[in-house]
Amino acid sequence: MLEHDVVIVGGGLAGCRAALEIKRVNSNLDVAIIAKTHPIRSHSVAAQGGIAASLKNVDPQDSWQAHAFDTVKGSDYLADQDAVAYLTQEAPEVIIELEHMGVLFSRLEDGRIAQRAFGGHSYRRTCYAADKTGHAILHELVNNLRRYGVKVYQEWYVLDLIVANQGKTPDIHGVVMYHIHDGQIAVVRAKAVMFATGGYGRVFNTTSNDFASTGDGLAMVARAGLPLEDMEFVQFHPTGLYPVGVLVSEAVRGEGAYLRNSEGERFMARYAPQQMELAPRDITSRAIVMEIRAGRGINPDGTSGGPYVHLDLTHLGREKIMSRLPFCWEEAHRLLGIDAAVQPIPVRPTVHYCMGGIPVNTDGRVRANASQLTEGFFAAGECACVSVHGANRLGSNSLLECVVYGRRVGRAIAHYVAHRTMPPVAEKEHIQKATDLIQNLLAQRGDMRIHQLRQKVQDCMTEYCGVFRTALLIEKGIQEIQNLKAQYERIYLDDKGNYWNQELIEALELRNIIIVGEVILHSAYHRRESRGAHYREDFPLRDDQNFLKHTLAYYSPTGVTIEYMPVVITMFEPQERKY
Ligand code: FUM
Repeated sequence: MLEHDVVIVGGGLAGCRAALEIKRVNSNLDVAIIAKTHPIRSHSVAAQGGIAASLKNVDPQDSWQAHAFDTVKGSDYLADQDAVAYLTQEAPEVIIELEHMGVLFSRLEDGRIAQRAFGGHSYRRTCYAADKTGHAILHELVNNLRRYGVKVYQEWYVLDLIVANQGKTPDIHGVVMYHIHDGQIAVVRAKAVMFATGGYGRVFNTTSNDFASTGDGLAMVARAGLPLEDMEFVQFHPTGLYPVGVLVSEAVRGEGAYLRNSEGERFMARYAPQQMELAPRDITSRAIVMEIRAGRGINPDGTSGGPYVHLDLTHLGREKIMSRLPFCWEEAHRLLGIDAAVQPIPVRPTVHYCMGGIPVNTDGRVRANASQLTEGFFAAGECACVSVHGANRLGSNSLLECVVYGRRVGRAIAHYVAHRTMPPVAEKEHIQKATDLIQNLLAQRGDMRIHQLRQKVQDCMTEYCGVFRTALLIEKGIQEIQNLKAQYERIYLDDKGNYWNQELIEALELRNIIIVGEVILHSAYHRRESRGAHYREDFPLRDDQNFLKHTLAYYSPTGVTIEYMPVVITMFEPQERKY
C-alpha cells in the first residue's frame, strides 16, 4: 500500500502552496499531491485579473482593515470575520513571498508591484501579471514542488475518502484512487489528507470553469456523510463571453471598460450609481439579467431584446488593451473574431465560483458538524468554506484565499502530523469496493450517453437555480434532479478498456455533479431570504433576524438535511449594503 505523511488532493494554487509550506516547516515530512490533471493544468491557471493585498503601492490610504471591511460588506455580512482578518492581514506578506519565489507581477514605472481597481474594493489593491495572474503564480509554485521534493501523482483520479469511526468523530485515514493512464486502483494512507479540489462550475450549463471543475472533492465529502456549507451561494461572473461563457476578466472593467445595453446606455447607473461597473459581482450580474429581461439586451444583428449586453473597451486604446489585457483581447478575437480595440464584446453572466464548500476552521481543519472537528482531514481553496467570502466573493480575493490559506493550512498540517501515527487501512477491502464500482459502471447496459444526462442536469441547475430563484422554481429543480439521478443507471459506456478511459472518468464526474447539484438546490430552498449571490424573488430582502447564519447541508442517497451554524462577527456589525 502507498503511504505518505500528508496527501493533498488537487494540484492548483491552494494545494501547491500548502505542500511547499509543509516542507518548509519540516523538510523530513513525506508530502504527496494527487491531481486528476497535470498540476499546471489545474483551473487556477485560468485566473486572470489579479490577487488583492493592501500593499499601498498605488493608493497609500489603503489598509488591511479597509480590505477586511470591503470583503465583509461584499460578502453581505455572511463572511466569518476572524477568517477575513487573517486573509487581509497576511495578504501583503504572501504577495512579497510570491515575488521572492519568482512570480513576474506587472510593475509601476518605479519598479514596485502594480495594483489595479476591482469590483467592490474601495482602493486599487489588486496585484496582477497582465491578465494571466493565475498562470504566473501557478507556474512558480509548481516549479518549486520539485525543488522541495514533493511527490506528484498526476492524472490519478481520487474516487473516495477512507473514513474511520463513522458516527463518532470521523477520522480520515487516506484515499482510494484510479490511474487514468492504465486503470490501476491504489489505496494511499496518510497521517493527514488535505482537499484542494477546486470548484464545481460544470454543475451548470454555462461556466467560466474548465472541464475538470466537477465538484469531485465536495461530492466525496458529501458521500462520507460530512456537511457542506453555504452551497446556495453560487457566483455568477457578470462578464462571460457570449455565447461560450468563458471569462472576460473583471480587470477589463478595472481598467475602465463600460457595460452598455441595447440603447448604448451605461445601465449600471441604475443599480450602483457610485461604483458603476465596479460594483460587486452579485449586483452587476443581476443588473445585466434585469436589463436583458427588460428587453434591453442585444441581438447579434444589433437589435434590442437579445440575450447579452456589451462590454465596451474601445475608449481604452489599443496600447493599454494590449499591455494590460492581452489575453481578453485575444479570447474575443479567437473565439468570436472581434477586435475589442474597436468593437464591443458581447457578455452575459456565467457561473464562476463556489462561495460555499467543505466547512473548515481557520487552520483548515474540516468540521464534522457545527461543534466538532474531524481528525486527519483538512481543506483549503475554492473547495473549502472558511468562510472569507460569505454570500458573495469580491474579485481577486480567491487567489488570495488560496495562497493565504494554503500557507496557513500547510503550517497547521505540519504541526498536526507530528503527533499522529500512520493510521491502519484495510487495503484489499477498499480496492475491491473501487473495482466493483468501476466494473459495474463498465457493465451497465443503458440506453443513454453520458453527455445527454449531464446536459440535462446542467440545464436543470441553470433553469431552476440561476441568478434569480423562487421556491416554486427550486422545488421543480429538486424534483427534476431526483428524476435525473434515477436515470444514472441508464448511461452506458462504449469504452470498456483500462487505458485512458475518458468516458469512465466522465461517468464518475457526473455522479459527483448530480450530488453537488442536489445539495445546492436544497440549501437554496431553505434560505428564505436574499443575500449576496442568492436572490429569492419571493423573499427579496436580507433577513438578518432569521438567516444571519451558515447553512450546513448533509447529503444522503435518500435526501439532504439542513442545519445552521452561527456567523463569526468580530469587527463590523451588519448594515445596509449600498454601492
Ligand atoms: O475577472 C477575473 O479576472 C476573475 C477574478 C477572480 O475571480 O478573482
